[in-house]
Amino acid sequence: MTTTTATMTAITQHAYGGTEVLAVGRVPAPTPKPDQVLVRVHAVSPDSGTVHLLTGDPYAVRLALGLRRPRQTVIGLAFAGVIEQVGSEVTGLSVGDRVAGTAWAAFAELVVAAPAKIARIPDGVSMVDAAALPVSASTALQAVRDSARVQSGQRVLIIGAGGGVGSFMVQLAVAEGARVTGMASAGKAAFVRSLGAEQVIDYRTTPDPADWGRFDVIIDAADGRALHVLRRALTERGTLVIVGADKAGGRLLRGTDRQLRAVMLDPWVRHRLTAVMQRENRADLETLLGMVDDGRLSSSIDEVAGIDGAMALIDRLAAQQTRGKAVIALLPELLR
Ligand SMILES: NC(=O)c1ccc[n+]([C@@H]2O[C@H](COP(=O)([O-])OP(=O)(O)OC[C@H]3O[C@@H](n4cnc5c(N)ncnc54)[C@H](OP(=O)(O)O)[C@@H]3O)[C@@H](O)[C@H]2O)c1
Repeated sequence: MTTTTATMTAITQHAYGGTEVLAVGRVPAPTPKPDQVLVRVHAVSPDSGTVHLLTGDPYAVRLALGLRRPRQTVIGLAFAGVIEQVGSEVTGLSVGDRVAGTAWAAFAELVVAAPAKIARIPDGVSMVDAAALPVSASTALQAVRDSARVQSGQRVLIIGAGGGVGSFMVQLAVAEGARVTGMASAGKAAFVRSLGAEQVIDYRTTPDPADWGRFDVIIDAADGRALHVLRRALTERGTLVIVGADKAGGRLLRGTDRQLRAVMLDPWVRHRLTAVMQRENRADLETLLGMVDDGRLSSSIDEVAGIDGAMALIDRLAAQQTRGKAVIALLPELLR
């Protein structure tokens, strides 16, 4: 089937700011190159990266994406949908395939995607569940499996356990057989326990790492404390993995320099210090979609909104009120 649509509905961004700079409007529909596919998008999922690109915070984002205003006017990365056109050089994918993955300008009726960044969705996985995975769950898998190398029986602390990446990290570490402690605000404690965490530490009432206990692995996706402070809660040969922290540091880098510092300090200390630089890829997506299909992983969807509710949903995400993931359904029949 060939699309004949000249324009499409999309969520657009004309400046850096809050959701007041977003609009739902008509934009030209994209055309796939020979090595791309065109996907009709059913559901999309914002994440903290969407919020960084919206606000232009950290400022380093603006160096890459436009100093005064974003060059990319359609927002979004993670999507699930159905292939509508296949480029002449693409093999192994067909019109009608249900796929999930990442692509720039994904929060739109149609998106062009590279085959290496999408995977087929198993029949048993819904579009809504699939849309939640490509950014947050891929980051979580690479943090738990590749950076932390979590082993059965290890004591693991997940900081930011109630968020998008954290909710997947808790489940993936539990699936490895680890004994997981989650760190989250009190309102998310029951949610974090429901993901398999043995205990939950409220960072507001228990701020001192000396009171947290000792862990073989700490993965920080929220806190932003200095490396030497977090290392106080590690066992002698423990591993510290830095994923990110939105409120850390100054506005230029927002603590992303901690990732670099962890890698540079690693050779000089007993602890293993490392960082995650997430790379979406088909193999990891297939692993995650398979785990959702056979019930070992939940997409932990807190909220599904239609396009009319998209701005309020992004506002809640930016205020870190979302438990786990939120999904925007572009097709009304996906609303539940
Ligand atoms: N390195 C990479 O490649 C990569 C990839 C993706 C994301 N990231 C980064 O990872 C971080 C998390 O992303 P996300 O999408 O999961 O964000 P998110 O959905 O907003 O989750 C962040 C969570 O952290 C909690 N939190 C805030 N301060 C905390 C603290 N001091 N201790 C423990 N929990 C705290 C928040 O809720 P409560 O305060 O209510 O608990 C929230 O649930 C962001 O900094 C993001 O930029 C990095």
